[in-house]
Amino acid sequence: MIDIFLIAASIENAQCIVACLEESGVRYRLCTAYGSVRQLPMHARMVRSADLLIVDDANLNAPALDGIGQTLASAPTLNCMLVTPRPSAALTGAALRVGVRRVLSWPLDHQAVGDVLAKIDMQRRGPGRRGARVVALASSKGGSGTTLIAVNLAWALAARRDRRVLLIDLNQQFADASLLMANRPPPMTLADLCSRNEQFDAALFDACTMRVRANLDLLAGAGDPLKAAELSPAQLERILTLVRERYDAVLIDVGTSLNPSTVRALAHSDAISMVVRQNPLYLHGGRRMLDIFRELGHPASKVRVVVNQYDKNAQINLPMLERTLGAKVAHQLPRDDQSVDDALRRGVPLVASARDSGLAQGIGLLANMLWPPGAERRRRLVRLSATGPDLPPQLKPGA
Ligand SMILES: Nc1ncnc2c1ncn2[C@@H]1O[C@H](COP(=O)(O)OP(=O)(O)OP(=O)(O)O)[C@@H](O)[C@H]1O
Ligand SMILES: [Mg+2]
Repeated sequence: MIDIFLIAASIENAQCIVACLEESGVRYRLCTAYGSVRQLPMHARMVRSADLLIVDDANLNAPALDGIGQTLASAPTLNCMLVTPRPSAALTGAALRVGVRRVLSWPLDHQAVGDVLAKIDMQRRGPGRRGARVVALASSKGGSGTTLIAVNLAWALAARRDRRVLLIDLNQQFADASLLMANRPPPMTLADLCSRNEQFDAALFDACTMRVRANLDLLAGAGDPLKAAELSPAQLERILTLVRERYDAVLIDVGTSLNPSTVRALAHSDAISMVVRQNPLYLHGGRRMLDIFRELGHPASKVRVVVNQYDKNAQINLPMLERTLGAKVAHQLPRDDQSVDDALRRGVPLVASARDSGLAQGIGLLANMLWPPGAERRRRLVRLSATGPDLPPQLKPGA
């Protein structure tokens, strides 16, 4: 829940802004005053206790921005968004310099408003917040190994760290995490969950997730690009808000797509792991992706570059790769065709079928890097009351 103070120029403008807030899916409490930015001092106390100040004013000028700057300086956790027709580059620049987060014009960009709200909601939950640590896994180009890594990280966290883990497959193309996770189809998918928007609650969520093992669930991807495209950022927002409370670790396989929903998932994530390979095409995509992360406001410290199928003799070595990407490589994973193929044939992640392999061990180290042990509160495994064997019967070797 975030607290918003809105100064609106008219009832009509306020209604348009409220429609955007509603569409964002973020829970909020709103206090509205009508007038101009000149009224700001009259509401100083209320504004300072809000999380977000929205000022809708057609006549923003330098003294008005100074006033906003002073308000922001006196309330370090306050965020501010301005709405004004045709903001000039100079006005936008000056506003950003005094600490305004976003300057928007009419008609409002619903997506931009939703992203600002999602970020503030994340911040509010803060470092001391309870709930899952969320990590998004992104692919600089198709086939980098993101899904294989996501599935194995999820399994490793669930098996070795006794955490409640959820993997969300947000791949837009032919989502395939369920194939690597278990040799049975998921009961329902993200698309089913979103198609029953009005009934969305914890029970429907449970019905749509696949129980892979006692403390590991998978929310399978739509498997159909057309259905995947129907997922709205607001729907995803509701899902992420729910799962943060229910799990200790959440992994989101965003694949290669950067669209309104995956951008929202990134905003919700505590860290982003971008997977690349030592190939010019992956580096080209990786560099662009890192630029976009920066433009979206994700600090470099939030992003971890992982080199998959690492070859120490490859022409593109680590220093060259880091120079090209302009970022440090956080981790490398070896190539291991045999373990990968064997795991796929058996329908289990390789961290279970080849746990001593270099690749499984590398994934264990990556899990510790992305979810530092002890960083999350260990929660009681509520849904573990009917704890079964480690592997579902049909996944046991030789079954
Ligand atoms: N370290 C590895 N060693 C051997 N094979 C690997 C390794 N990592 C991934 N692979 C193989 O590479 C292929 C692509 O992997 P995966 O599907 O995980 O990539 P992706 O980035 O998720 O692809 P997509 O863009 O289709 O979502 C798969 O056949 C997978 O088994
Ligand atoms: Mg994939």
